[in-house]
Amino acid sequence: MTFPENFIWGAATSAYQIEGAHLTDGKGPSIWDAFCEIPGKVANNENGNIACDHYHLFRQDVKLMKQLGIQAYRFSISWPRIFPNGRKDSLNQAGIDFYNQLIDCLLEHDITPWVTLYHWDLPLALQFEEDGWLGKNISDLFADYAECCFEHFGDRVKHWITINEAWVISILGYGQGVFAPGRISNSEPYLAGHNILLAHGKAVKKYREKFQSNQQGQIGITNNCDWREPKTDKPEDKEAAARALDFFLSWFADPIYKGDYPESMKSRLGDRLPPIDEETRALLLGSSDFFGLNHYTTMFAADATGQDISSDVYGNGGLSEDQEVALSTDPDWSLTSMKWAVVPWGCKNLLQWISKRYDNPPIYITENGCAYDDQIEDGVVDDKERVHFFQSYLKGCHEAIASGVDLRGYFAWSLFDNFEWASGYEKRFGIIHVDFKTQVRTPKASAHFYSETIKSNSLKDI
Ligand code: GAL
Repeated sequence: MTFPENFIWGAATSAYQIEGAHLTDGKGPSIWDAFCEIPGKVANNENGNIACDHYHLFRQDVKLMKQLGIQAYRFSISWPRIFPNGRKDSLNQAGIDFYNQLIDCLLEHDITPWVTLYHWDLPLALQFEEDGWLGKNISDLFADYAECCFEHFGDRVKHWITINEAWVISILGYGQGVFAPGRISNSEPYLAGHNILLAHGKAVKKYREKFQSNQQGQIGITNNCDWREPKTDKPEDKEAAARALDFFLSWFADPIYKGDYPESMKSRLGDRLPPIDEETRALLLGSSDFFGLNHYTTMFAADATGQDISSDVYGNGGLSEDQEVALSTDPDWSLTSMKWAVVPWGCKNLLQWISKRYDNPPIYITENGCAYDDQIEDGVVDDKERVHFFQSYLKGCHEAIASGVDLRGYFAWSLFDNFEWASGYEKRFGIIHVDFKTQVRTPKASAHFYSETIKSNSLKDI
């Protein structure tokens, strides 16, 4: 099973999850630094203060990537490391220096940097002063920060991702309160989501107007989506699944590819969903050079019109109730340690659905992976389940490509075991094991499997 020539094989991480050095060399605090201080918000009250200490160990980490044959590395820049108070007047040269060194080191090892500008670590000052993603100035402040990154790194960085997972920021951060900044509301997610889209649009506009033609790079957004399979063939369940995808992915992809929010959201949310006016439409339409997708799992969707589903897995925070969709899984599906079902055909179906709905855009899977309770024994981590996960999902990707989907690359989540947000260090997603006491890195069996796949640009039959 050979992948297309030039298919990009990468691995992904994010700043807060691996860097540590949370207040080192002038970095300002982020909303995640603060959120972790609230007892009970994160498993074992852990935090990203040290994490993988990648800030200090990045050179050896890049070497390890090189040994595995990783071609592209997706990492994020910490906004409060660049602007400690969130604004351009606070520029922190040490932050610029750090990312310069990381980027140079990657290029010396022939690894292509893919840079995410926002992976959830908003400068804390902007939460206080601007109400975070609810504030009317936040999109302009983000565009200032993005411009600073284009200016300093754009001579070498040719792949930019503005925002990681607008859905997670909005729903988990402003709806359910389980991620920073911990707000609980059934209207704020839609305002936050709107401002995130504006931030993306304004950053892309800056890039296109001032940098893109000189720097010859690409810029886009990465959104996440699980697949939603109709629970039965009944038309109402099919509609429920379509509605669930509207509220998950089309919420952010329709404005970019079609110029407006999906009809199902507009009609159900009324004035909780800010309208997209002509100016915003022009800003957003066509504002992504590629379709970035993070994908993890699949659930069944059934119509739940008129039912009380507030205790549903995604209940509270406006999601399931607004959609009137009940979610479930098949008891036969195997589960990762996040309790997410392993359903490779869901990945294929989602890729085909995106391709059809958005007119066959170039797609990059910017995250896909799984957590398991890995054990290190005699210096070896034999993570058979993760190997199987990657094999089966990559097979799904290959089938999607064979059916005409323009999938151009794949980034494993994650390069390292790291700080898994509200789950702390309990959930291990890495292809490289990290001993958080000693900072020793050990590539797992899945890293060797991935390395083989990259080298041969093909998947062994399973
Ligand atoms: C994504 C996120 C990553 C990582 C992963 C696994 O939503 O972008 O940071 O945590 O999920 O949960």
